[in-house]
Amino acid sequence: MTPDQLRALVRTIPDHPKPGIMFRDVTTLLLDPEGLAAAADALAATVTDKPDLIAAIDARGFIVGTALALRLGCGLLLVRKDGKLPGETIAEDYALEYGTDRLAMHVDACTPGARVLITDDLLATGGTALAAARLIRRAGGLVTGARFFIDLPDLGGGAKLRAEGIEPISLMD
Ligand code: PRP
Ligand code: HPA
Repeated sequence: MTPDQLRALVRTIPDHPKPGIMFRDVTTLLLDPEGLAAAADALAATVTDKPDLIAAIDARGFIVGTALALRLGCGLLLVRKDGKLPGETIAEDYALEYGTDRLAMHVDACTPGARVLITDDLLATGGTALAAARLIRRAGGLVTGARFFIDLPDLGGGAKLRAEGIEPISLMD
């Protein structure tokens, strides 16, 4: 499947969840069996240095992270919206394109020195991925990079991640 064919599987819905937002909807890519497998394979192929853990961000990031963890043979670290995890957690607040939220992870999910690759479906302002990176670093983990199906470069997330020493790679704009 070509990058253009993959891109065509993502639809854009205007004014969701707020007026003015052009929402890139990944559910249509997920519905397509060849598209889903091709996206997972293509993203896995960008990981040349296998990490110890894949960090997957609640909720759509769980899909991307699980696919990568299974393909690469890594463990899966869940970074969840606050209030969902049962054990002792650390949490970070962050701003989104359309609001604010709080992410959490188990304090003991990541051993000091573990090499962790962040995954999500989409990079917009970078607030979510940076909050995940702060959590992983607070737990002593080393963030080796970040992977997304989609980057919205106009929102500047890629530059913010690079400024924090995190190289983002995405399959499409
Ligand atoms: C979306 C998306 C990313 C984040 C990207 O998640 O899945 O996690 O926003 O935005 P940012 O780069 O500006 O931080 P959302 O918070 O809508 O949650 P969901 O996955 O639960 O739908
Ligand atoms: N699509 C999906 N998730 C998002 C978007 C979008 O356009 N912007 C911020 N999070």
